[in-house]
Amino acid sequence: MPSARPRPEDHVIVIFGITGDLARRKIIPGLFHLAAAGLLPANYRIVGCARPSSRMSDDELRAYAYDATCQFATEKPDEEGWRAFAENLLAAIDPDEGPDGLSAVMARAEAAIGGAPRRLYHLAIPPDAMRQVIELLGQKGLNERGRIICEKPFGTDLASARELNQEISRHFDESQVFRIDHFLGKESIDNILALRFANELFEPLWRRNHVRYVQIDVPETLSIEGRGAFYEDTGAFKDMVVTHLFQVLGQLAMEQPTSLTAKPLRDEVSKVFETMRPLDPREVVRGQYEGYRDENGVAKDSTTETFIALRAWVDNARWMGVPFYLRTGKRMAQSRQIITLGLREPVMEIFPELKANPNRDSNKLIIDFKDPGSIHAEFLAKQPGPEMVLGTARMHFHYRESFQISNNLEAYERLLMEVMLGNQALFTRSDGIERLWEVSAPVLESPPPIEFYPQGTWGPYSIERIIAPHRWTLPQ
Ligand code: BG6
Repeated sequence: MPSARPRPEDHVIVIFGITGDLARRKIIPGLFHLAAAGLLPANYRIVGCARPSSRMSDDELRAYAYDATCQFATEKPDEEGWRAFAENLLAAIDPDEGPDGLSAVMARAEAAIGGAPRRLYHLAIPPDAMRQVIELLGQKGLNERGRIICEKPFGTDLASARELNQEISRHFDESQVFRIDHFLGKESIDNILALRFANELFEPLWRRNHVRYVQIDVPETLSIEGRGAFYEDTGAFKDMVVTHLFQVLGQLAMEQPTSLTAKPLRDEVSKVFETMRPLDPREVVRGQYEGYRDENGVAKDSTTETFIALRAWVDNARWMGVPFYLRTGKRMAQSRQIITLGLREPVMEIFPELKANPNRDSNKLIIDFKDPGSIHAEFLAKQPGPEMVLGTARMHFHYRESFQISNNLEAYERLLMEVMLGNQALFTRSDGIERLWEVSAPVLESPPPIEFYPQGTWGPYSIERIIAPHRWTLPQ
């Protein structure tokens, strides 16, 4: 982390959905890590807001947060650091009534900090619950000095995303709104900008003239991890593709922005989404792992997809005709986060073995964006010996070997910091999100039938038809 970064102003941070999976796994441990790294404001309070049925006292919230941090933080909390952090944790309930209600707890928090601290609301709740909370914040005047973080998926289709955007704009200015997609906070995804626009080595190749296909592949060995109720209504398409994978596509396909500030960056990403062709259900395979229907909270005849592979197209001068292959799923053979750019073959072949096998797929740039991240270039080289015989060779870059990364922030941590600093560059914008729902509408309206796949595999067999004549990049 560059040490020259400004420290955020004093804050009251409110987490809606404090008892949810996301708060437990990412937000609470992330805030603790930021506190331990000295990156939180000098004065802050964190209010965990729950429904009255999950009401907690301050001490119960502290114990709960401690367990979550021990379980999920990258570094376990030390006693002194934890005590200092825990003092700042307060519990509240919504509906906002009585001394435990959100307004009363926030008033206490603000009085303790003094002055007029900023208010940050993290809405780690499902899309249908967001509108109510936003309305509450507006009605109570809690939107003043406020910023909101909206979790993905933002809406469940175009109509609901529009309604949500409208509700937000009634109570918040767009500059106060942070639609989060944590893939944009990943170090290796942010690095795509550097890789492309800080180097003349790659950018001239980064277009249809040289690139045959792009793959964005995020298989996971995880199951739905007890999130049956959420997952049943969401599925892999909304959970991963309309959100994370499309955002990664935006970073890969965008033109060079005029600067790294929020407006030019997000303008360029939005232009990519504008030029995306609406998805064709015939170019989509939906899968479900065997045994999914036995998970808690899942219907016995569920047709929710736990796997999806598809072909997307960006119809602009740079990418016309280049397929973007996207794949993700639960309970697959391996957990990976891989981008592959497959390059075209040389126009004129002087090597007989290449002539004999034009689909050899021998030039690839592979970005592994799972932390800590790496990049590999695959190319052909002459094998040592008297004959001109070609063999596959590789060049590697590993963050761990090239940089000191002990101060590394996890995606959520990085993004929480950016919100507190008011920088929207790494957050999605309403027009972009609405366009992505528009592009996705054909699949939401006419989803192809579910195909089953055994756990621990690479998905249904028929995914090969999505990618043929190419192949998914396999683990090395
Ligand atoms: C979340 C999805 O947004 O991203 C999960 O809801 C998925 O289903 C997760 O497992 C993957 O994120 P990460 O942090 O492993 O890159």
